[in-house]
Amino acid sequence: MSNYLVAGGSRGIGLELVGLLAPSASQVDVWSRSVDGLEPGGRVRHLVCDITAPDPLPELPESIQGAAYCPGTVNLKSFRALSEDDFRRDWEINLLGAVRFLKACGPKLKGEDGDPASVVLFSTVAVGQGMPMHASVAAAKGAVEGLVRSLAAEWAPRIRVNAIAPALVDTPLVDRMLSTPEKREAMAARYPLKRVGTAADAAALARFLLSPESGWITGQVLGLDGGMSTLRA
Ligand SMILES: NC(=O)c1ccc[n+]([C@@H]2O[C@H](COP(=O)([O-])OP(=O)(O)OC[C@H]3O[C@@H](n4cnc5c(N)ncnc54)[C@H](OP(=O)(O)O)[C@@H]3O)[C@@H](O)[C@H]2O)c1
Repeated sequence: MSNYLVAGGSRGIGLELVGLLAPSASQVDVWSRSVDGLEPGGRVRHLVCDITAPDPLPELPESIQGAAYCPGTVNLKSFRALSEDDFRRDWEINLLGAVRFLKACGPKLKGEDGDPASVVLFSTVAVGQGMPMHASVAAAKGAVEGLVRSLAAEWAPRIRVNAIAPALVDTPLVDRMLSTPEKREAMAARYPLKRVGTAADAAALARFLLSPESGWITGQVLGLDGGMSTLRA
């Protein structure tokens, strides 16, 4: 039975992932600032953590088989409206938070039964495909993709490192973009598969990447975007 660490597992994609991992896990540690929608207990432990704060990080289990870093932003503004502070904030939570997380859990990541341990991070569809209003988040997530490939090379064959690059996924992070039936319909129409993503779509892929079923996949950024990044439907 495996130990998992999910940063940002109190809502959205991370919360859904915790729900998928917990039934077959030995322990799932969740790091976030608030408990939010999480119901700790049993195999699920909540540890208060602001990954961008200078405070010491929570204690870690002796060994971790899978770790996911879910905190992040979808900060949509024109380049003109983006301040340098916007770029700093996006960099802080998307890249430096992930670096802090990985530095802490790296030494504890140990596979079981000959399988490597596994790490999952989150990018965005807007790194591989230029989109207006995405300059700050795309720049930060582009750095995450570079980190993923570098670390995957450095940590092979002991630890696999992959990222998921979602388009719009219905979570509290993007509430405002889906706040009316009209907005929801307009957003769904942009995708070849004619719907936006769900937290369950993203969590299922994250669970797969954390499991030995994806044991020959590392250094990849997998699109989760209803076909948006590759199809002209
Ligand atoms: N949803 C989308 O459409 C979409 C699209 C592209 C990429 N993504 C990426 O996918 C990932 C997951 O997104 P989501 O939509 O599930 O996000 P979400 O609903 O906003 O959830 C974010 C999680 O991270 C935690 N968190 C935020 N700041 C934190 C901090 N400083 N320290 C510790 N924990 C923190 C939050 O809990 P607390 O606030 O309690 O700390 C929460 O549990 C993110 O990296 C995002 O950039 C999402």
